[in-house]
Amino acid sequence: MPLEFQLNLLDPSAAGNDCVVVGIYADNGLSPAAQALDAASGGRLSALMARGDVSGKTGRTALLQDLPGVNSARVLTVGLGERGKFAVPQYLKAVGDAVRALRSGPVKNAYLTLTELPVKGRDAGWNVRQAAIAADHAVYEYTATRSKPAEVTLAAITLAAAATHAVELQRGVAIAAGVQIARELGNLPPNICNPGYLAEQSIKLAAEHDDVSCEVLERAQMELLGMGSLLAVGRGSANPPRLIVLRYTGAGEAKPFALVGKGITFDTGGINLKTQGGIEEMKFDMLGAATVIGTFLACARMKLPLNLLTVVAAVENMPDADAYRPSDVLTSMSGKTIEVGNTDAEGRLVLCDALTYTQRFEPQATVDVATLTGACVVALGKYAHGLMSKHDDLAGELSNAGEAVFDRAWRLPLWDEYQTLIDSAFADVYNIGGKGAGAITAGCFLSRFTEGQRWAHLDIAGTSWDEGRKGMANGRPVGLLSQWLLDRC
Ligand code: BES
Ligand code: MN
Ligand code: ZN
Repeated sequence: MPLEFQLNLLDPSAAGNDCVVVGIYADNGLSPAAQALDAASGGRLSALMARGDVSGKTGRTALLQDLPGVNSARVLTVGLGERGKFAVPQYLKAVGDAVRALRSGPVKNAYLTLTELPVKGRDAGWNVRQAAIAADHAVYEYTATRSKPAEVTLAAITLAAAATHAVELQRGVAIAAGVQIARELGNLPPNICNPGYLAEQSIKLAAEHDDVSCEVLERAQMELLGMGSLLAVGRGSANPPRLIVLRYTGAGEAKPFALVGKGITFDTGGINLKTQGGIEEMKFDMLGAATVIGTFLACARMKLPLNLLTVVAAVENMPDADAYRPSDVLTSMSGKTIEVGNTDAEGRLVLCDALTYTQRFEPQATVDVATLTGACVVALGKYAHGLMSKHDDLAGELSNAGEAVFDRAWRLPLWDEYQTLIDSAFADVYNIGGKGAGAITAGCFLSRFTEGQRWAHLDIAGTSWDEGRKGMANGRPVGLLSQWLLDRC
C-alpha cells in the first residue's frame, strides 16, 4: 500500500499525530523541531541525550513516549550525522531510517519534520518530493506470494512544509508509485511474471490512466515486421514473447521521448546455459522493462506536458529443442544480420528489434534500459548505472538528472575503435565481443541499430536490485528517468 501524504507546518509540540519525527545532529545539535520539543518538555530531550538514550549518530533512532508538554504520544529521534556533512544522501537516508523505524507499528500516522532541514544545493520543494519518494520506498513490502499477512501498518505521513509545495508532493507521490510498480513487477517470480503477464499488466495499468494507450504485439505480428532477432530469443520458451507499446500523449503532436526496456522475464542463458552461478537472480532480467513501465506511469500521473513512448521487449530465454543456437545467423527487423556467438547475450538481440521498431515514432530522444552485462557490474558495481551515448548533450542530461535525485549514472565510451570487436565473418555483426570491455561492446552492438538517432543506453545490471538471497528490486532508475523527463518540460 502506498503511504498517504499531507503538507502542513505545525508546532511540533502541538501536532496531533501518533508520532513526531525530529532530527538530531551528531554533535548533539538539535534541529529546529527538536529544539521546539526540548523547550516544550522542559529540556527532556537534552537530558535523554546527555545520558545517551538519544543519539545524533547516523542511523540511530530512538522512540520516546509521553514527553511532557508534547501533544503527540511519541517522538522519534533520528540521527543525522555531522551537521557539516549533511547533504543529499544523508537526507534521503534519514527519511528512510525514520520510516523504517516506524513501519510496523504502533504508529499509523507521523509528522515528519525532516523536510525542514537545509540540504546542500536543494530547495524545500525538492525536500518534499524526495521525502515522499524515500518514505514510500521504505514502507514497500513484498506480499504477493507469501502467506504471512502484511507487517506494515504505517499509513500516513504529514510532511513539514508549506502548502505551496503541493505540486512537488504530487510529483513525489507519482514517482513513488512508479517505483513501487517497477519493484513489484521485478520481485514477482518468473513463473508468474512472464511476457504475457507483463503485457496484461501494462494493458491494465494503461486503462487506469488518462491519455495513455497500450498495444501489444504477438508473435505473428512480430513475424510480419521481420523481428527475427527478438523472435529467435523467444523460440525456446513455452511462454511466447510480446512487444508492449505504451503511449502517453501530454503534448499533442510533439515528437515523443522514447524509453525502451529489456524484459527478459527469465534468463537461463539459453543453450549457453548459465552454469557459473547467478542464474537464480535472473528473474530480475526484466528490470529494464519494469523501470521504463514505472517511469511511464509516473509521467502519466504527473501529467507531464510531453509525449512519451515506451516499448518493452518481453521475452523468456530458455533452452529447448526449438531454441536458437550459437552460430545461428538471424535477420533483424533493420535488415542487418547477426551471428549468434552466445545465446546468453540475448538482451541486445531483443533490444535491437525493439529499438528499430521505436524509430517509426520518430522520437526526439531514445533511452534504452537493460540489465545487459555482468561486465557492467564488474566495472561500476552497485552504485552507478552504466551510461553510454554518442550524444554528449543527451549523456549530460541523463547524468545531471541522476545527480539531482541521487540515482547516479557514469558514462563509458562508445568509441568507434570498440566496434571492431563485434565484427563477424558470417553476418553484419556478432552478438558478443572479446574478453575486455563487455559493457561497451554490448553498447556498441545497440549503437548499430540506432544510427542517426539521439539515443543513450543505461546498463542497470549492477544497480537495479539489492544483493543477496533476500535482495529485492529497488526501483532504480525510475528516479533518474523521471527527473530527466521532468527536466525536458
Ligand atoms: N542478463 C545478463 C546480464 C547480467 C549478468 C545481469 C549478471 C545482471 C547480473 C545478460 O543477458 C548476460 O547474460 N550477459 C552476458 C553476456 C556475455 C555472454 C557476452 C554476461 O554478461 O555474461
Ligand atoms: Mn543472458
Ligand atoms: Zn539477460
